[in-house]
Amino acid sequence: MKITFAKPELPSAGTLVVGILEEHRLTPTAQQADKQSKGAIGRALAVGRFKGRPEDQLSILAPQGLEVQRVQLLGLGKPEALDALTLQAIGGRLVAALNAAGEHSAFVAIDEIAGASLGVGEMAANLALGARLRSYRFDKYRTREKPEQKPTLKRLIIMVDDPAAARRSYEPLEKIGDGVVVTRDLVSEPANVIFPESLAEAAKKLQELGVEVEVLGEKQMKKLGMGALLGVGQGSACESQLAIMQWRGASDAKQKPIAFVGKGVTFDSGGISIKPAQGMEEMKTDMAGAGVVVGLMHALASRKAKVNAVGVIGLVENMPSGTAQRPGDIVTSMSGQTIEVINTDAEGRLVLADAIWYCQEQFKPQAIVDLATLTGAILVALGNVYGGLFANNDTLAERLLAAGKATGEQLWRMPLADAFDKMINSDAADMKNIGGRLGGSCTAAHFIKRFVKDVPWAHLDIAGVAWSDKDAATAAKGATAFGLRLLERLVADHYEER
Ligand code: BES
Ligand code: MN
Ligand code: ZN
Repeated sequence: MKITFAKPELPSAGTLVVGILEEHRLTPTAQQADKQSKGAIGRALAVGRFKGRPEDQLSILAPQGLEVQRVQLLGLGKPEALDALTLQAIGGRLVAALNAAGEHSAFVAIDEIAGASLGVGEMAANLALGARLRSYRFDKYRTREKPEQKPTLKRLIIMVDDPAAARRSYEPLEKIGDGVVVTRDLVSEPANVIFPESLAEAAKKLQELGVEVEVLGEKQMKKLGMGALLGVGQGSACESQLAIMQWRGASDAKQKPIAFVGKGVTFDSGGISIKPAQGMEEMKTDMAGAGVVVGLMHALASRKAKVNAVGVIGLVENMPSGTAQRPGDIVTSMSGQTIEVINTDAEGRLVLADAIWYCQEQFKPQAIVDLATLTGAILVALGNVYGGLFANNDTLAERLLAAGKATGEQLWRMPLADAFDKMINSDAADMKNIGGRLGGSCTAAHFIKRFVKDVPWAHLDIAGVAWSDKDAATAAKGATAFGLRLLERLVADHYEER
């Protein structure tokens, strides 16, 4: 689907989309179309359930007096509530409705709205972002789809008085959308396509955008002493990798970077502590943290963000085999701390332990945020609704919570406490990799915390939100890229030079 911005005119084909505010208040273009069609909009409003709320849409087919095939009434709600997120959701639902209706091209009239907090350009840009995000579909392997099963919408023309200004507003959002697409593709791909080396290749592609990328293989990681990460990958036929992405966008070259560390388990079978067959295929998404880091670096680099940022992703496949790590094995991490591996399915934390340690040694970052599909327990606590946030620093936590609210990628802060930390003490080594049945997300966070030096750090447990089983306004079911928009916002609001 191609999105363009153009000057307003009544189109002669396709769908004309006009906004209706709550209580049936017609926007100027809606009034114009109503007049042209001799009151078709007013009559439709009188007989339907359409109220003009942001969820409401209504199609008027083949209205007389207009050349278009359809007028789509788009609820905008109350002017004062018409914020960026609402417009993104409206744009997303519009695309879904137009595809369901079989439309090929749609012309969306964006009028100035008295009392709205956003200007026309920003309204247009946010509607466009929502439309773009919802139109994402991972269908490259569906080779026998009938035309009527495919989305039809090819062109979305957003009509505003100043199309150039709207385009300028859209530009940074489009880059965020590009990053989201990169992440969703990576997470959607099966594990026979995305494995440690191919995911490292995807990171390398960011070089085209000016990101410096380095990839370490097993030999180099062994030299560095990354026994925790390497232990997870040792049962796999795939070679483990560590990919390091550096974006130096700050004018002050000495600005300490903000660091993002991602769990990149390209398939999590559980290893010798093997998972049940039911649902195991979902574990191709266990690299979502890494996928978000790649997409985020893509977004930051392509909009030339004035920040120094590094992304480190630990890439392994967790498989059972004759060479696999056993329960009871003791590994030595790069930090020197030893770990008793009680359960080989608690592997993400082992990967993060070495990736985070390396990141600190190498870059001395001003803050670290890690992302990981780490625990099933976070799904029990927060469902598919919130990502779990753990942080050793209240300022960083507040910033992340605020960025989450602003982008609709909501986080809920979870507790860190000494009592959880004690639960991972081991008799045989410095720590063990599970803490027992209770507080599973919290003990997992504490495990990671043992590898964090004196630096503001946050851990996002995204196991419940990286993938969605049902359609949402700005994401069809499938990979969500949760975390990307939120962290992009965090950088823009707090770490970028103005
Ligand atoms: N990758 C899983 C966590 C997960 C579960 C992600 C569901 C997405 C959906 C992780 O590696 C794992 O297996 N965690 C175990 C830890 C346990 C053995 C302590 C879990 O949560 O069951
Ligand atoms: Mn696991
Ligand atoms: Zn896992």
